[in-house]
Amino acid sequence: MGRNGSCMQICFLLSVVYAAAVERVVWAQTTSAANYVPVDNILISCGSSTNVTVDGGRVFQADNTAKTLASGGVSASISQPSPNLLYPTLMQQARFFTTNVSYTFTVTPGRHWIRLYFYPFAFANWAANASLFSVTANQFVLLDGFRPSSWTTPDFPSLFREYAVNVSSSLVLGFNPAPGSYAFINALEVVSMPSDLYSDDASLLGQAGSITPLGLADCAIQAMFHLNVGGASVSSQNDSTGMWQTWQPDYLFIFSAAVGTTGDVPVTSIEYPTTLPEYIAPATVYATAREMGGSNTINQNFNLIWIFPVDLGYTYFVRLHFCEIFFSAINQRVFNVYINNQTAETAMDIIALTGHPDWPLYQDFAVPM
Ligand SMILES: *[C@@H]1O[C@H](CO)[C@@H](O)[C@H](O)[C@H]1NC(C)=O
Ligand SMILES: *[C@@H]1O[C@H](CO)[C@@H](O)[C@H](O)[C@H]1NC(C)=O
Ligand SMILES: *[C@@H]1O[C@H](CO)[C@@H](O)[C@H](O)[C@H]1NC(C)=O
Ligand SMILES: *[C@@H]1O[C@H](CO)[C@@H](O)[C@H](O)[C@H]1NC(C)=O
Ligand SMILES: *[C@@H]1O[C@H](CO)[C@@H](O)[C@H](O)[C@H]1NC(C)=O
Ligand SMILES: *[C@@H]1O[C@H](CO)[C@@H](O)[C@H](O)[C@H]1NC(C)=O
Repeated sequence: MGRNGSCMQICFLLSVVYAAAVERVVWAQTTSAANYVPVDNILISCGSSTNVTVDGGRVFQADNTAKTLASGGVSASISQPSPNLLYPTLMQQARFFTTNVSYTFTVTPGRHWIRLYFYPFAFANWAANASLFSVTANQFVLLDGFRPSSWTTPDFPSLFREYAVNVSSSLVLGFNPAPGSYAFINALEVVSMPSDLYSDDASLLGQAGSITPLGLADCAIQAMFHLNVGGASVSSQNDSTGMWQTWQPDYLFIFSAAVGTTGDVPVTSIEYPTTLPEYIAPATVYATAREMGGSNTINQNFNLIWIFPVDLGYTYFVRLHFCEIFFSAINQRVFNVYINNQTAETAMDIIALTGHPDWPLYQDFAVPM
């Protein structure tokens, strides 16, 4: 494992589509096949005096009109933002805080995505790298001792963090600067998610078949990676789930030179079974894949391996998405899945499980680190 610190290794002998979200989540059983329309879809452009529209139609409301900010903070802006920003018109404003300040949102009860966008820039007497703060969401600490500038580079000048938090009625997002420092935020989103997107049990890794209640209702989940294996990035704009998720390509996470081969089918050939809601993952993600060798290659003697940096002391929820887009009969592709050298699945045959080519399937694992 050629990395410092801890990491999680996921290894497939043939994989199709893989995505991972952190902290925990699992098997959905619903009959709705429609994409999801979030009840709450709150988008805020922080420090801005005008609404900002991105992605061809998402309006981030100016926070001086949104009436969600208790008080305080300074409207900051940069006239020449980095050309490498994905959303320059949104990121060139920020609200800076030198005291603890909170945004309060009234929302419908249930789990919500909280997305926080940070683009560190210098403003007035504040250096871009002098910002150090924590962020809370109700009783949860989302970020602690957070220095955004230590996560950016000239090529990737901004960052975002994504969480899923269960809220009963009101959501208070707190920004608390470290003594002598300041906090800031450029934009934020609070978007409802389906209550069954992540349910409360997953197979605990290393205890074959045992389903473990994770107590999710009481957890804040941080989404770490959503990967589109074998395909390009899927922008929030192109995410057909209705939740504006972003999917990254997987190649940055592949370990070793054995990268297999990638392939795809038209997105329209993906069919969701009635038991699988389309918001589980976009068809674009299921329509691309990475496999070992070409068609009809037998007994490939290597593994496909992905490696992820993780923090010890947390349970990681790993959701693997599969869709057999190359073969149509059972026994044509059979493989094992290992996570951190432990067996997660043996003799997995997607067609045997789904009964159909081009039908998605996913499996969830809880991985204590
Ligand atoms: C800004 O957006 C909010 C919410 O979408 C809307 O109510 C308001 O009219 C917009 N303001 C302007 C000036 O367009
Ligand atoms: C911020 O950048 C300045 C100038 O490059 C440097 O002197 C200072 O040590 C940095 N501060 C922190 C907290 O990284
Ligand atoms: C600001 O928030 C931090 C973190 O929650 C807390 O430790 C600190 O006491 C708060 N400061 C004030 C002045 O309320
Ligand atoms: C959110 O919390 C409430 C109250 O604890 C619980 O009834 C509900 O099932 C939770 N929802 C989710 C999606 O975890
Ligand atoms: C969305 O998908 C379309 C069609 O594949 C593509 O042309 C466009 O560039 C994508 N948009 C973004 C923001 O990635
Ligand atoms: C997996 O096993 C290999 C070989 O025994 C070992 O080098 C590696 O450190 C193990 N990885 C993990 C995550 O335990």
